[in-house]
Amino acid sequence: MTEVQSWHLAFQPFELSTRLSLRNRIVCPPMVTQMNVNSEKALTHYRAIANGGAGLVILECVSLPRFLEGGDLHDGVVLRRLSDAVHSAGAKVGAQIFAGFSRFDPPGSYTGTQFSHVNSPSEFTRDGIQAVISGFREALRVLSQAGFDVIEPHGAHGFLLNQFFSPVDNTRVDEYGPQSTENRMRFGREIVAALAEENAKVGRPLTLFYRHSPEGHGYSPADSVQFAQCLYAAGLDCIDLSPDSAPVGRLFREGVPALPGRTPLRVMVVGALERDRAGEEALAQGAADGLLKETRFGWAANGLLHCKGCDGVRGEEAQGAADVIALGRQLLCDPSWPTKMAAGRQDEIEQCAKCGACLQLIFKGREVMCPKAAAAARRQAGAGQL
Ligand SMILES: Cc1cc2nc3c(=O)[nH]c(=O)nc-3n(C[C@H](O)[C@H](O)[C@H](O)COP(=O)(O)O)c2cc1C
Ligand code: SF4
Repeated sequence: MTEVQSWHLAFQPFELSTRLSLRNRIVCPPMVTQMNVNSEKALTHYRAIANGGAGLVILECVSLPRFLEGGDLHDGVVLRRLSDAVHSAGAKVGAQIFAGFSRFDPPGSYTGTQFSHVNSPSEFTRDGIQAVISGFREALRVLSQAGFDVIEPHGAHGFLLNQFFSPVDNTRVDEYGPQSTENRMRFGREIVAALAEENAKVGRPLTLFYRHSPEGHGYSPADSVQFAQCLYAAGLDCIDLSPDSAPVGRLFREGVPALPGRTPLRVMVVGALERDRAGEEALAQGAADGLLKETRFGWAANGLLHCKGCDGVRGEEAQGAADVIALGRQLLCDPSWPTKMAAGRQDEIEQCAKCGACLQLIFKGREVMCPKAAAAARRQAGAGQL
């Protein structure tokens, strides 16, 4: 079987939910650009990815307070141009939302809230937890007005929501604390349940994704399957597993039985292309250079790429392990990967070198770009002039 044939399933149209039909199963996962989603540059960036043929484009992580009163995205009209641009290119569009405070948002993009600078479970008051839950309701209303298709709380990579699920990071002493699995799942479940409830009220309901790391501080993929069951029962449509989740995707597909009258829980994985030592080394170098200064952030950054014990698998296996497949850096390097691959033009693909330069730019606080993609664009422009 050729490489293209091994991917053929991924290029078929797919009904992810009753509200979401995709032209194929390739997803651009959230990737911080530090461009500000509310800018012309970001519009151009996401339009290019959609034009390249992905079925769904999920915007980079944005802080929840930006969608609330006082936030720059509060009016759904603001993101309408971006969703229209992605839709015109034939893709669907989603937004990933960070429950607390994210350093990647531009200064002044929101005013303070009860939780806007909270970054660990123990810092949260109960009122803060409730404010996040109702904040997600509001974000769903805004995104529905903005014409979005998908909303995704960021519950992975050691960040805030992930810490609630971790029995090591979560040191609370109330019903959201680590004393039982039920407690550790509570915050995520309440967010998803609130989103499902709000969805029933809006004119244009969204499909509900949740990003989760299949293994983390003090928990295993089997624990995560239990969490996926719980989120699905609360109304979740798709569990987005990151990092390097292709090897464990099947556990989730087989471990969460479909509920009567519901589409089965959809599973999205990353890591369908081969494992990259170079990316890992680049992150290690970033740590050595002092670019990843804060321990927690450094841990999260390493968590972006790999879960321990996972050895990357190829497209064919990943398709059996998942319903949709996310290609992150490969789409940064060549957004036209889906179109070229589907047409058997894989020789024209600019292959991601897994050099980690894009990630290092994040840690340097600079706008994210791929030097290989930039060089290819320069070559193309040069060829046009001859
Ligand atoms: C530059 C860059 C920025 C990223 N930003 C985010 C983010 O905002 N939210 C998130 O959940 N993951 C983020 N990730 C992780 C990706 O979504 C993806 O899970 C990871 O890159 C592994 O997929 P890949 O091997 O196909 O690149 C980022 C990755 C990169 C390379
Ligand atoms: S900078 Fe480009 S080539 Fe290097 S890892 Fe990122 S996307 Fe891949």
